[in-house]
Amino acid sequence: MSTFESAAQPYGVPGHASAPPYPTASAPAPYPHHQPPTQPPAPPPYQPQEPYQRPEPYQPPEQHQPPEQYQPQDQQPQEQYQPPQSYQPQEQRPAVTVAPVVRPTEDPLSLPAKPATDAEEDDPSTGPDGSIGPTGRPKRHIPEPAMLEKHGPAKVLAICNQKGGVGKTTSAINLGAALTEFGRRVLLVDFDPQGALSVGLGIPPHALDQTIYNVLIEHGPNLDDVVIRTTVEDMDLLPSNIDLSAAEVQLVAEVGREHALLRTLRPVIDKYDYILVDCQPSLGLLTVNALAAADGVLIPLECEYFSMRGAALLMDTIQKVQERLNPRLEITGILATMFDPRTLHSREVMARVVERFGDIVFDTVINRTVRFPETTVAGEPITRWAPRSAGAKAYRALAREVIAR
Ligand SMILES: Nc1ncnc2c1ncn2[C@@H]1O[C@H](COP(=O)(O)OP(=O)(O)O)[C@@H](O)[C@H]1O
Ligand SMILES: [Mg+2]
Repeated sequence: MSTFESAAQPYGVPGHASAPPYPTASAPAPYPHHQPPTQPPAPPPYQPQEPYQRPEPYQPPEQHQPPEQYQPQDQQPQEQYQPPQSYQPQEQRPAVTVAPVVRPTEDPLSLPAKPATDAEEDDPSTGPDGSIGPTGRPKRHIPEPAMLEKHGPAKVLAICNQKGGVGKTTSAINLGAALTEFGRRVLLVDFDPQGALSVGLGIPPHALDQTIYNVLIEHGPNLDDVVIRTTVEDMDLLPSNIDLSAAEVQLVAEVGREHALLRTLRPVIDKYDYILVDCQPSLGLLTVNALAAADGVLIPLECEYFSMRGAALLMDTIQKVQERLNPRLEITGILATMFDPRTLHSREVMARVVERFGDIVFDTVINRTVRFPETTVAGEPITRWAPRSAGAKAYRALAREVIAR
């Protein structure tokens, strides 16, 4: 026997030294105190059930009545088919009248622009370094923006929040105008079919033949032919109107649909220092295009509870775009808007926002003031309409922070 076979001797072979410890047939019963189970109780005696009752005999249902004989209705004499008369051109076509384009000043719903009351006002966002600002934090030092020797390539900032009425458009116009005061060339891109950015700069969007839509979808016109110069020097506008609402559907079928805006803006990137994209209030394909084209996102956040809650969803979308479409996208900052220092609610929301988002919250805070709706009527940025007002100063302070980031 080889060593291997002896080693492989199976365990428990009878007669082997390592025979099992369990009882075999000849071994005594292992449980000497075991009692057999007692006899099960006898079932109760059989009780006959009640005598079987025959069911009632089957009753056929009532005799089936055939439906009444179909009576054809009175014969309608069919009209003889008349072939259509052959097309007769009318002698004189009535001239097509095109309604004159309604400019905002002729619009029956327009308001007369008020002359600005440009009194000197203090803005709490523009206090000395280290003093406690409206965010409740000591203000950080923001260096004086350096003058530029040459322009471009532009930093693209998407101004984005899926909630409406939080100050996206207002911030695009006024931040853009404030940036030009520091020698920056700015292109504002109206990326909302409502065209509010165009209206806010005194340009009636429905009167425009060519807008961003034509460049984005039809690839037809040259971008330079669509861009409009605004009343602010060094600030141009790529306008939009209701046509853009169709783009969201049309883009779906395009290859690289998320990068359509990036392709559109590429030819002018070198001409500007900042391109501000005013997004529509949704997280749809247009907004994703803006985020895919952007280097940074600026989030205006209204100092109200609901706005704060919507910010989490927006952060989620931004993160997805960062991961899947545009790794260079970063959050430039969160701008608290519509802040009312007199209300506890505003201050509470502000404290929560600063606690949650930390340093990305700008030290500059935009107060709620009727001055902003008034500038929209005037069709001018606040930095020009009321240059010494608190609102103008706040957007200048914001421009410095944006340049510094
Ligand atoms: N800081 C502010 N205080 C008061 N009203 C404001 C302020 N910012 C914007 N508004 C007004 O609120 C309305 C919505 O602002 P808008 O910038 O169009 O928001 P969005 O573009 O986010 O929809 C406009 O009538 C605007 O004039
Ligand atoms: Mg808007």
